[in-house]
Amino acid sequence: MMFRSQIVGCGAYLPARIVTNDELAGRLDTSDEWIRQRTGIGERRIAADGELTSDLAFHAARQALERGGMSGNDLDLIVLATATPDETFPATAVKVQARLGMKRGAAFDVQAVCSGFIFALAVADNALRLGQARTALVIGAETFSRILDWQDRGTCVLFGDGAGALVLNAVADAGPTSRGILSTHLHSDGRQHDILYVDGGPSSTGMAGCLRMQGREVFRQAVQHLSGVVDEALAANGLSPADIDWLVPHQANTRIIDAVGRKLGLSADKTVVTIERHANTSAASIPLALEEAVTDGRIRPGHLVLMEALGGGLTWGASIARW
Ligand SMILES: CC(C)(COP(=O)(O)OP(=O)(O)OC[C@H]1O[C@@H](n2cnc3c(N)ncnc32)[C@H](O)[C@@H]1OP(=O)(O)O)[C@@H](O)C(=O)NCCC(=O)NCCS
Repeated sequence: MMFRSQIVGCGAYLPARIVTNDELAGRLDTSDEWIRQRTGIGERRIAADGELTSDLAFHAARQALERGGMSGNDLDLIVLATATPDETFPATAVKVQARLGMKRGAAFDVQAVCSGFIFALAVADNALRLGQARTALVIGAETFSRILDWQDRGTCVLFGDGAGALVLNAVADAGPTSRGILSTHLHSDGRQHDILYVDGGPSSTGMAGCLRMQGREVFRQAVQHLSGVVDEALAANGLSPADIDWLVPHQANTRIIDAVGRKLGLSADKTVVTIERHANTSAASIPLALEEAVTDGRIRPGHLVLMEALGGGLTWGASIARW
């Protein structure tokens, strides 16, 4: 029997503390106007002292499970995307597993930075399609505030903390019109390491390090690769841009989001944009945006949703789901 991964629940969590552009402008040579014009960001959430990636992930996961009418013990698999794990090991996913009361199955992390949610979704979808698991929780959770150089105005204004989660159930595949993940498409190019990386880690400096970025080059490559992978995802499913109900992009920069939307010929009102309030939450940005658009009634059952992301590595990917 062929299986398909149906989305049965969606959850999100944001730390309470809001840091506005004006607050940053009080400590750095920057301004609300500069940040808004170049990025679309107005504010970001920052995790409290002692509030860890696993805490954010747990809250988002619990909400997703509740909405799916499930509990931790119904899960076979947790795949958690993060570039900011609580500890070098074990995986943040196993901390979430324990807190959810899940005593069976498997939990592990996936590392693809800002593309992490798409990569984790692909891993979970493949396991469900193969019958290796029947229920999976896919989480994107980050505390990027902990790996930022707060003296570097070129990077620290861009990121925020948060988490989002989806619960997937394997159902019999009833053909292209049935609901669920239609396809996932993953890419990476390790030669592009130097344009976006963290200058530390357990095997190099022994410390966590800070994010370093060549913003212009990342911008240029993002538009090019995201346009390419979106075309690939549409072609793989015999779809055209007009078939897509919602574009849910990784939220890195409104100018990147707009450029990809324009190349697709999608009108801006079909794109879910949360960057103004969340900034770039890396692997959490797509599930945070999904949760918002599902909760406010924009994304409804049967809608075709196109997700895309690019991040450090470089890594990039896309997925199409019938909600
Ligand atoms: C980071 C980004 C907003 C910078 O915008 P940009 O137009 O490329 O700007 P530049 O980096 O060329 O910098 C232009 C000027 O603004 C200054 N600047 C940088 N950050 C600033 C800030 N927060 N406030 C005020 N000025 C700033 C620079 O120092 C530079 O000044 P100079 O001309 O005197 O040297 C943009 O490159 C970007 O969004 N790139 C993609 C990054 C991204 O999405 N990364 C995550 C991928 S997952």
